[in-house]
Amino acid sequence: MADKIFEIQTVCCQELEKCDCLQALQDLRVRYLGKSGELTALLKSIKDLAQEERPAFGNKVNELRKLLETLFANKTTALKCSEMQRKLQQEKVDISLTTMQPRGALHPVTLVEKTICDLLIAMGFEVLSGPEVETDYYNFQALNIPADHPARDMQDTFYIAEGILLRTQTSCMQARHMEKKQPPIKMICPGKVYRSDSDASHSPVFHQIEGLVVDENITLCDLKGTLQYLASHLFGEDTQVRFRPSYFPFTEPSVEVDLTCSNCHGKGCSLCKGTGWIEVLGAGMVNPVVLENCGIDSTKYTGYAFGLGVERIAMIKYGIPDIRLFYENDVRFLKQFGK
Ligand code: DAH
Repeated sequence: MADKIFEIQTVCCQELEKCDCLQALQDLRVRYLGKSGELTALLKSIKDLAQEERPAFGNKVNELRKLLETLFANKTTALKCSEMQRKLQQEKVDISLTTMQPRGALHPVTLVEKTICDLLIAMGFEVLSGPEVETDYYNFQALNIPADHPARDMQDTFYIAEGILLRTQTSCMQARHMEKKQPPIKMICPGKVYRSDSDASHSPVFHQIEGLVVDENITLCDLKGTLQYLASHLFGEDTQVRFRPSYFPFTEPSVEVDLTCSNCHGKGCSLCKGTGWIEVLGAGMVNPVVLENCGIDSTKYTGYAFGLGVERIAMIKYGIPDIRLFYENDVRFLKQFGK
């Protein structure tokens, strides 16, 4: 019997040694220490012994059980430990590897449009948007540009159908808005406009921001003050605004607005062709004919309007020589803005 005990101990130790996973260890434990395992069988064989040999045998078997339990516990700890090591090794995260996508940035046109809108919103302008496919009526007629008016030649129009076109200017939102709302009106309308024109300073699609203020006692001074505020914030404190007489059918009087050149601060350089001034936008006092077209009493109300090209402002601000650069989407170009 003592041999049997020794044999079980030896074989079990060898098998424990070989065991390399927790599941196999569990199976082994059941085989030796389980209810119907080797040790239980050994204990049961006690009945075959002489009465006086039984206590010593019982003690030996219990000692073996204790020993095996300790060995199994140690092996469990060792296997769990190496399992953890293996997992840590396998699931290791290499934090030195850069998986981050390069960061995007706003397009310079979006950036400038947003800057201008934010400045005007801060002055209490509400922001409107309107359709890019527009009727001849809102794009031209309501703005005092009848069918055969020479001013139509200033804006080469994409026609879609009889009386339907791609808007050539955001000014059409003046008429749309005034038709719906009585003064006080203080709105801007940013958006895309379309003209059949393409060279270094013209693109078939570009962006404008229209501004319109109508109320009692609105004067050209209000317009100049607003534009002065815009110019100072966009191009620097010392930027001056100059009005030159001009003509637009929907404003009377009309002005071209120049700013002192942001490059040379008015001294004269190649950007401003030596004049010290750069033309930035068209504006004027809303023509009473337009007010009346839209159902607003022109004896009671006056208004000012302005329309600026966002690309033009961006070109001046960043010194961009060709409008087409905005639309080629060369990342090396786009990367330089919106930091
Ligand atoms: N709509 C004009 C254009 O696209 C710009 C403009 C001029 C808008 C005078 C105005 C304005 O509101 O008063 O050339």
